[in-house]
Amino acid sequence: MGGLSASALIKQEPYLVIDHVSKYFVQKKQRLNVLENINFSMDKGEILCIVGASGCGKSTLLRAISGLDSDHGGQILIGGKEVVAPSKSRGIVFQEHRLFPWLTVEQNVGYVLTGIPREDKKKLVQEYIELVGLKGFEKAYPKELSGGMSQRAGIARALVNKPEVLLLDEPFGALDAFTKIALQKELKRIQRKSGTTMVMVTHDIEEAVFLADHIIVLDSKPGRIKLEVQVELPVPRDRNSYEFLQVKKKIYEEFFEDEKIPEDFSI
Ligand SMILES: Nc1ncnc2c1ncn2[C@@H]1O[C@H](COP(=O)(O)OP(=O)(O)O)[C@@H](O)[C@H]1O
Ligand SMILES: [Mg+2]
Repeated sequence: MGGLSASALIKQEPYLVIDHVSKYFVQKKQRLNVLENINFSMDKGEILCIVGASGCGKSTLLRAISGLDSDHGGQILIGGKEVVAPSKSRGIVFQEHRLFPWLTVEQNVGYVLTGIPREDKKKLVQEYIELVGLKGFEKAYPKELSGGMSQRAGIARALVNKPEVLLLDEPFGALDAFTKIALQKELKRIQRKSGTTMVMVTHDIEEAVFLADHIIVLDSKPGRIKLEVQVELPVPRDRNSYEFLQVKKKIYEEFFEDEKIPEDFSI
């Protein structure tokens, strides 16, 4: 039997490192601490979800990881390099699709692809439109798409550049429950196919347990890490399995520990 090589036994350095990150804003001359001493790291190819209530600093943290905002304490490293500015190697998907209304799906997806031959561009755009399940809608305009389809197009546009990291800020937050579940499944499939490292912000605990390999739970005011969970459930995940519900309950209780159902409760 050929054993593992020595190098394979050495644990890899984490890919993304958040090292003592703090951030404050000044609102009405008052200092508002939004992120306080955030430390975590993740491996390449993982999905990490940042979960927390509205206003706890999730988007602020994601903006810092994207490089859109570098005015914070501490350091953010990706692949050993400090993040100081936005980069094509980090794609972003927001809650609103932000597609250009005057461009078709294929034009929107291809918009960011510059400096490559026309034929290659066409092939790549088609590949990503198919990956997100929009085949047949290449010539459609955003106003002709449903919310879920628009988000699919937004995801294709973010992935077509083959980013090393995809950052998603509540991408399914504005969708109805059915569309949301369908897109969560799609995102998990896409991630497994592309192997892209993903950092996703959500306020939906179930969404995080369904998608993530690793969950960071944030407290509010100021945003601190309450809990860190490695989700080792098999994929595809069954939302109604005992193991799934146990992980969900563990996170839920971080927020609602005083809301236990009394023993004599009846309806
Ligand atoms: N540019 C800004 N200037 C001042 N305060 C801000 C700014 N951006 C966010 N905040 C404040 O920081 C806190 C965290 O915001 P945000 O990161 O958007 O939260 P979340 O995404 O978790 O809902 C909120 O109280 C918000 O009002
Ligand atoms: Mg937000």
